Formats: sequence, structure tokens, C-alpha cells
Amino acid sequence: MNSVAPYPGPPFGRAVALHSLGWLVAANIVGVWLALSLLWPALGDLLAPLTYGRWAPLHLDWQLYGWCSLPVVGVLLTWCFDFGYPHVRRHAGIALTAWSLALALGGIAWLGGNTSGKLFLDWHGWTRPLLPAAMHVLWALLATHTVWRWKRLSSAERTFRAVVLGVLLAAPAVLYWSMDRKVYPSVNPDSGGATGAALLGSTLAIVTIFLLLPAFLGLPALGTRTSRAPRLEAGQRPALPGLVRRTGVTWALVASWGVFLAIDRGHASHHAPAQIVGLGTLGVWVVLLPVVWRRHDWPAGARPWLIASFAWWLVLVVTGWVVFLPGISEALKFTHALVGHAHLAMAGLLTSVNGAVLVVLTGRRAPRTAFWAWQAGCLIHVAAMLVLGWHETTHVAGLFRSESWTQALMAVRLAGGMAMAAASIGWLASLLRP
Ligand code: HEM
Ligand code: HEM
Repeated sequence: MNSVAPYPGPPFGRAVALHSLGWLVAANIVGVWLALSLLWPALGDLLAPLTYGRWAPLHLDWQLYGWCSLPVVGVLLTWCFDFGYPHVRRHAGIALTAWSLALALGGIAWLGGNTSGKLFLDWHGWTRPLLPAAMHVLWALLATHTVWRWKRLSSAERTFRAVVLGVLLAAPAVLYWSMDRKVYPSVNPDSGGATGAALLGSTLAIVTIFLLLPAFLGLPALGTRTSRAPRLEAGQRPALPGLVRRTGVTWALVASWGVFLAIDRGHASHHAPAQIVGLGTLGVWVVLLPVVWRRHDWPAGARPWLIASFAWWLVLVVTGWVVFLPGISEALKFTHALVGHAHLAMAGLLTSVNGAVLVVLTGRRAPRTAFWAWQAGCLIHVAAMLVLGWHETTHVAGLFRSESWTQALMAVRLAGGMAMAAASIGWLASLLRP
């Protein structure tokens, strides 16, 4: 790690952070409202007909497509955009506005009761083409800037970028198709939930993105422990990502995807040893991901977020695998333990990774209090849900009767969530200051 940013961030870094954090704050405020109405259900009457079920998609989809996705949009802009182009900020603004507009219109539709009913794929009717359309706007801008930079790229980089852009071009169509109410992924026949192969594949997709992040952000690779790669000037980017060069990590990634292709990707049970062992192979990445990231020169402000990411990642892979095991999976199904898992993965891991990304994109640290309030609040939130889920397995009636012990855990979750919401507001406010 370096004491200063390797380069001052792209010209549109602050805009990316404002859009991303804006959605985090909005989705968190909805989350706090959900937590309040689960603790005191009568509160829901105040906003009727905008009841719990109307607000829930806003929390989930704004967190996923807003907060979890927009920093990745910023990474792609950084990787593709020609910083020398005079209207580079305006182009980034168009891509970010199109994306945010889709989210805002989606929110209005969900509040009006227009949803597909599919978790994270609520886009239905007139909202179904919105996000794919925003993705096409983004793609067109990425492709245009790539063409402008084409002559300056090596032939290996041209091939790599063409492949990545080809994959990205398919994304809107795949998303549109998956929103169809009739389309469903493979189901574990013994739990009714996700199969081991599906969990392995989706997590490997995230691992692949994580591995590409430092190079896409233009972070210089560190040579050996003592010698550092020369610092890059503003606008300069390193050549091909180390990942696509022949390294041990590349082979480990190829092997992981090989495991995914080798195991049954149909309606496989979590009792099948291949599903259990296949999902367990993710453990390799608990070690390898930090190794790869530490080979790059991150700015010092990213350091706490990276350390938090490694901690959340370790806990996620270990507990996620345990939750999949026969016996445990059946017991925890439909309990708050899975709510805990979802927040561990997204509010813990993905948010910490995004924290590091935003430091690189803006060249600014998040306020220290925001960092600690987020991490502590998230830990409290996740722990309360795991404890509640664990006891629900044997005392489910207590939850329905709102007994004092379940209410107490719901209140603890609310307190953790409020700390997280306050942290996100403080973080956004710090970026609004010049
Ligand atoms: C960033 C990575 C991950 C994200 C964003 C994520 C997110 C989620 C979400 C949102 C659910 C649905 C929760 C519900 O049904 O209420 C889920 C379920 C689950 N996840 Fe993850 N997860 C991630 C990584 C993992 C990993 C690494 C494992 C295992 C090693 C895992 C194992 C599971 C299991 C077993 C379920 C329950 C499936 C079922 O029976 O319905 N997840 N995850
Ligand atoms: C201000 C902090 C937050 C609060 C108060 C909060 C609250 C809630 C509540 C009350 C639920 C409904 C689950 C239930 O039945 O108990 C929920 C679900 C969910 N939240 Fe949050 N949340 C917060 C932050 C986040 C963040 C930052 C993310 C992701 C980046 C996130 C992702 C999710 C997901 C994926 C679910 C669905 C879980 C499932 O179905 O298993 N939340 N949240």
C-alpha cells in the first residue's frame, strides 16, 4: 500500500461516488423503515396503501442495482474512457443519469405495486426494459471510448477488451430474459433453494470481477516485496491486467470454473457430495483474493476497507458453506439467518469493497467515524439476525407471537441499521463538501 493515491482518480470519480452513495442512503432509509415496521407492525398503517410489501423491493433493488452496481459502473468507465477527451465528464454523467433514472422509475412502479414478485428481479411490465436500456447507454459509451483509444492499445489488449465488451453486450439481454416470470433457475429439490452449483457460479462471477478490479482501476502492480512499479501519472493506465497474463492465480480461476462446469448444474440436491465439495472449493479464494489485491498499490485510504473486506469474505465463505450443509440448510431455511447472510455478503463484504473502490475513484478517504459506524452497525445487524435465525429453528412460534426475546433482537437489528444509515449519510455529506 502507498501513502498517496497512485493517481488522483478519474475526472468523473466524484460523480460516480455521489450517484452510488445517493442510492445507498435512499435504500438504507427504506431499510430502517422496514426494520421499524417489523418491530411495530401497526406503524405500517401510517403509510397505507404503501405497506411493507411495497417498500421491500425498493430496499433490495436499490441496494443491488444502485449501491452494489454503480461503483462497478465507475470501474468500467475508468477502464475504458479516454481521459483526454474534453467531454469525458459529460459522457460519464449521461451513463450515470440513465442508470439512476431507471432506478428512480423502478422505485415508483414498485411502490405502485407493479412487480414481478421475483426477488431482485422485480422489474415488470413497462419497467422491464429500463435497466437493460441504461446498460446499453453505458455500453455504447464504453465502446465509443475504446474505439477512440484503439490505436494506442497493444494487440493483446485489443483482444482482451473486445472479449470483455462482447460479454458486457450480452448482459442487458440476459437480465431482460431472467426478469420473465416464467424463467426460473435450477432448484435444489431437497430445500427448494439454490443449488451448490448455482451458489458456486454466482460467487465465482463475483470473485472474477474482484480479481480484475485493481487492474481495471489502473492501480500499479507491485513488483517484489521491496521494489515497486513506477507510479503512474494522471490518465496513464498500466498495460494488460496481470490476471490475464499466465499466473498461478489465472490457473486457479480456470480450475475453479472447471469445477463449476464439471458438477451437476441441474436440479441437484445439497445432499450430493459433489455439490458440497464443489461449493467448498471457494475456500481457496479466501487465501488467494487477499494475495492478489495486496500485489497492487492501493491508496492508504482504501486500506481499512480492504482489511474489512478480507474479514467479511472469510466469514461469508465459511458460514455460507456451513449453511448449505444437509441438516443445517433445512433448519435455517426461511429463517432470519438468511437475512443475516444476505447482509453479511452485501452490507459487509460488497460495501467494504465498494468503500475501497470509491477511495480510488475520488482520491478521498471516507470519514473515519463513517467507516467505524458502518462496520460496527453491520456486525450488530448480522449478529442479531444470525442469533434470531438460530433460535427460530426451535422456537418459531415465539417470532409470530412477537415475544420479548424476538422483539429485543429486532430492536438490536434496528439499532445496528440506524448506525449504518447514519454512516452512509455522513459519508455522502463528506463528498458534497468541496
Ligand atoms: C458476495 C457473495 C454473496 C452474495 C451477494 C450472496 C447473497 C445471497 C442472498 C441474497 C441469498 C438469499 C437469501 C434468502 O433467501 O433470504 C443467499 C442465499 C444463500 N447463500 Fe449466498 N451470497 C453470497 C455468497 C455466498 C457464499 C460464498 C456461499 C457459500 C459458500 C453462499 C451460500 C448461500 C446459501 C447456502 C444460501 C441459501 C440458499 C437456499 O437454500 O435458499 N452464499 N445468498
Ligand atoms: C441501514 C441499514 C439497513 C437496514 C436497517 C436494513 C433492513 C432490512 C430489513 C428490515 C430487511 C427485511 C428482512 C427481514 O424480514 O427481516 C432487509 C432485507 C434485505 N436487505 Fe437490508 N438493511 C440495511 C442495509 C442493507 C444493505 C446495505 C444491503 C446491501 C448492500 C441490504 C440488503 C438486503 C437484502 C439483500 C435483503 C433481503 C434479505 C433476504 O431476503 O434474505 N440491506 N434489510
